[in-house]
Amino acid sequence: MKSRLGVNVDHIATLRNARGESHPDVHKSAKIVKSSGADSITIHLREDRRHIKDNDLIKINKKLRIPLNLEMAPTNEMLKISLKHRPDYICIVPEKRTEITTEGGLNLKKNSNFLKKAICELKKKEIRTSLFIEPNPESVLNANKLGAECIEIHTGKICNLINKRKKYSKEFKKILNSVKYANNLGIEVHAGHGITFRSAKILSKIKGIEEFNIGHFIIGESIFIGIKNCIKKFKKIIK
Ligand code: PXP
Repeated sequence: MKSRLGVNVDHIATLRNARGESHPDVHKSAKIVKSSGADSITIHLREDRRHIKDNDLIKINKKLRIPLNLEMAPTNEMLKISLKHRPDYICIVPEKRTEITTEGGLNLKKNSNFLKKAICELKKKEIRTSLFIEPNPESVLNANKLGAECIEIHTGKICNLINKRKKYSKEFKKILNSVKYANNLGIEVHAGHGITFRSAKILSKIKGIEEFNIGHFIIGESIFIGIKNCIKKFKKIIK
């Protein structure tokens, strides 16, 4: 199975916001990401709007003919925005104001009422919804019970181990088993967080991951090899 590549452009916005002006342009970067062969664009509209702003969402959603995956916190404000703008995909992620990046998977039990309602309402608008979860059977089963058609597995832990040249086989097995379990339940599986060329090579050995969502490394590596080359290299690795 050929896996798809979703490119997260949040950190183009981080760079832009560092000067409080309009360069580098997020929409322009999304156009280049599209023409470089990405299958979708991901943006995370955080509650504090620290990188992506509402206008970025509106512009990319309206003008760019490529599936848009909007990451959102499990809140009524974000659900309202999603239902209004109707991006192609939604990925519901946990969010803490003080975190630098999304630190772990969703607490499905704590958020179950909201998630059930959100999945149902988004489905009615034909928006594909995934839940960002930790790689364990309990989370996969709970996501299934909530009616999720897709899950995204948080790969932060294994990617950290791979980066530090530490043993990662235990974490690899956890992901492998979660993917198999989800596939058996008929859930589509995505993976994301902290992925580099090296970790993508390792994770792509797992059959059944249909989509990889990668952000920080692509934007960072683009300084050295350019965004086009970086995307092409990832597409080759995950094919
Ligand atoms: N997938 C999800 C659900 C995320 O929250 C993030 C981080 O915003 C990513 C993928 C991308 O992670 P990274 O920027 O580390 O590649």
